Amino acid sequence: MNNCIVNVITLCIVMQVNCALDFDKTRTTYSAKMFGFSWENCGKPDDPAVLKTLALSPDPITVPGDLTASASGTTTVELAAPLAVNVTRRRNLGVAGSGSRVPCLEEIGSCHYTDGCDLLNQLIPPGTDCPEPLHTYGIPCHCPFKAGVYTLPESDFYLPDIDLPYWLTNGHYRVQGVLGAVGKELGCLKITFAVHSNN
Ligand SMILES: *[C@@H]1O[C@H](CO)[C@@H](O)[C@H](O)[C@H]1NC(C)=O
Repeated sequence: MNNCIVNVITLCIVMQVNCALDFDKTRTTYSAKMFGFSWENCGKPDDPAVLKTLALSPDPITVPGDLTASASGTTTVELAAPLAVNVTRRRNLGVAGSGSRVPCLEEIGSCHYTDGCDLLNQLIPPGTDCPEPLHTYGIPCHCPFKAGVYTLPESDFYLPDIDLPYWLTNGHYRVQGVLGAVGKELGCLKITFAVHSNN
C-alpha cells in the first residue's frame, strides 16, 4: 500500500526538517549520521495495512549524503480520508523502553493527526505529479490508496545539507506510527535508529 504508514512517518520527518529549514549560510558545515535503522509492524495480526519490506542503506546514513531505499507494503482495505495518524517519538530508551517523549513542535511531533490525507495534500498539492521516484513507479501519493500491493524498487536519493529538526539530537530514537480509520486500527509501524551529529 505504498507503505502509506512509512510515507506518513517520512512525511512527518520531512515536514519537520522543512519547518526547521534555515538558510543561514554562515553556519559551519556539519554532518549527521543515522545508525542501525530497523523497523517492525506493531499492529494487531489482522491489521489491514502491513509493511512487508523496508531497506535503507548505507548504515550509517549520512546527511548530507546518498540514501538507497526500497519498500513494499500491502493493504487489504482502501485507505481513504479521514485517515487518523498518531505518531509517538521517544528518545534514549531505557531497558524498560520508557525514555523521554519528544514533544510536539507546531503540528509535528508526538502527535495525533486527524487526517493524514490532508497532510499529504498540504505537502504535495493535488493535481501535481507525485515526487520521484513515486511518479516513475506509478505509486500514488494522495488518498485514497486502493487495496493492493505497493512496491518501491531500490531507488537512490540525495539527502541535502539542511538543518535537522531541533529535537533530533544525539541519542537513540523510537518512532511509532499508528494509522486508523473511524474507530479502527489499520496499521502500526515502529522504527528505531540512533543519531550522531557534529552539529
Ligand atoms: C490516536 O490518539 C487519540 C488520542 O489518544 C485516540 O483517541 C485515537 O483513537 C488514536 N488513533 C489511532 C489511529 O491510534
